[in-house]
Amino acid sequence: MSENRAFIYADNAATTPLAPEALEAMETFLKEEYANASGLYSLSRKAKNALQDARESIAACIGAKASEIYFTSGGTESDNWAVKGVAFQNWERRPHIVTSKIEHHAVLNSCKALERIGCTVDYLSPDSAGRISPQSLAKAITPNTVLASVMMANNEIGTIQDIASLSQQAHSQGIVFHTDAVQAVGHIPVDVDALGVDLLSASAHKFNGSKGVGFLYIRDGIEISPFFNGGQQERGRRAGTENVAGIVGMATALRFNVEQMNQTTAKLLCIEQTFIDALRAAIPSVVINGDASNHLPGMVSLSIPGASGEGLLHILDLKGCAVSTGAACNSQSTEISHVLSAIGAPESLSKGTLRVSFGRFNEVQDAQRIAELIAKFAKIQD
Ligand SMILES: Cc1ncc(COP(=O)(O)O)c(C=O)c1O
Repeated sequence: MSENRAFIYADNAATTPLAPEALEAMETFLKEEYANASGLYSLSRKAKNALQDARESIAACIGAKASEIYFTSGGTESDNWAVKGVAFQNWERRPHIVTSKIEHHAVLNSCKALERIGCTVDYLSPDSAGRISPQSLAKAITPNTVLASVMMANNEIGTIQDIASLSQQAHSQGIVFHTDAVQAVGHIPVDVDALGVDLLSASAHKFNGSKGVGFLYIRDGIEISPFFNGGQQERGRRAGTENVAGIVGMATALRFNVEQMNQTTAKLLCIEQTFIDALRAAIPSVVINGDASNHLPGMVSLSIPGASGEGLLHILDLKGCAVSTGAACNSQSTEISHVLSAIGAPESLSKGTLRVSFGRFNEVQDAQRIAELIAKFAKIQD
């Protein structure tokens, strides 16, 4: 973070630092207004009102109605609910799902779990920039297809999909459309009507809220089975005592990020350009993965022929910089990234890949420092 130059955090696609304004909003509900929102006394009413305010604020940030926002424990739960909930709702139809090979494992492994119990799934291949075409979606749809799920922005290479065209294609064939917008919400404009989505997943910790809280947007009229069974919270569709402080923090962080989006984007594009220019000048063979013309601001996936991404990550860590080799959720695994193999990156190049994701607290000097370190230590490994 800029105020602590000794340490540079550039792994914002894995998680983001909690925004000071979100922490402040949360504190009241952690310390004083701690009542269960379902109680009948006045302290509970404060929590209940806070939930409603948060719901309205979040809905306004994505062009939805408050009644269409359902709080969850984060992106993984939202994705599981969307995918399994639509499949279970249509179980008697022997459901078929169309998704892509580059989804987050929250979607991919939900689909795999459904396949084990009789669902069928098609996994669409992206082009070399990570784009999924509406034509490939059209071809994969069968009379049994109940859901198409394509992520809005990829968490490893940052490619942004043409969700409006994909959802239009799905709807023209009568199919419900879900997008995992975990990397998009709070970073690029998200309007559920302009995108034409029926279901949309988001996670607070990716946009400077806290971990363990998120939401699923469910368009009014869409039929989906509940995923958690229990009490009547969230209009009987998602049981479990609400994480009031987390939800209030999520709404505050999202509002702030949406209001600041133009300035933050301009800053991140400048940081990113500085980083790429410095890298290219030092390492002409560097490959920048993803869609150069349509990607998440501040996210750079770079591959250096002959280098070890993992080795570089550890050297950068020793030098006080946090970056990732690929998806953070996968950082324990040394397997080749499923996203890089789906876009056709050769194995040798995938092994030399780093994901550097700048966020609102980074500065241009952070990009210069990381590029300098990569240039210095990647050469040693050549
Ligand atoms: C695209 C995408 N979907 C889903 C998730 C899971 O979100 P959470 O960490 O809130 O469970 C992530 C997190 O890395 C992600 O990047």
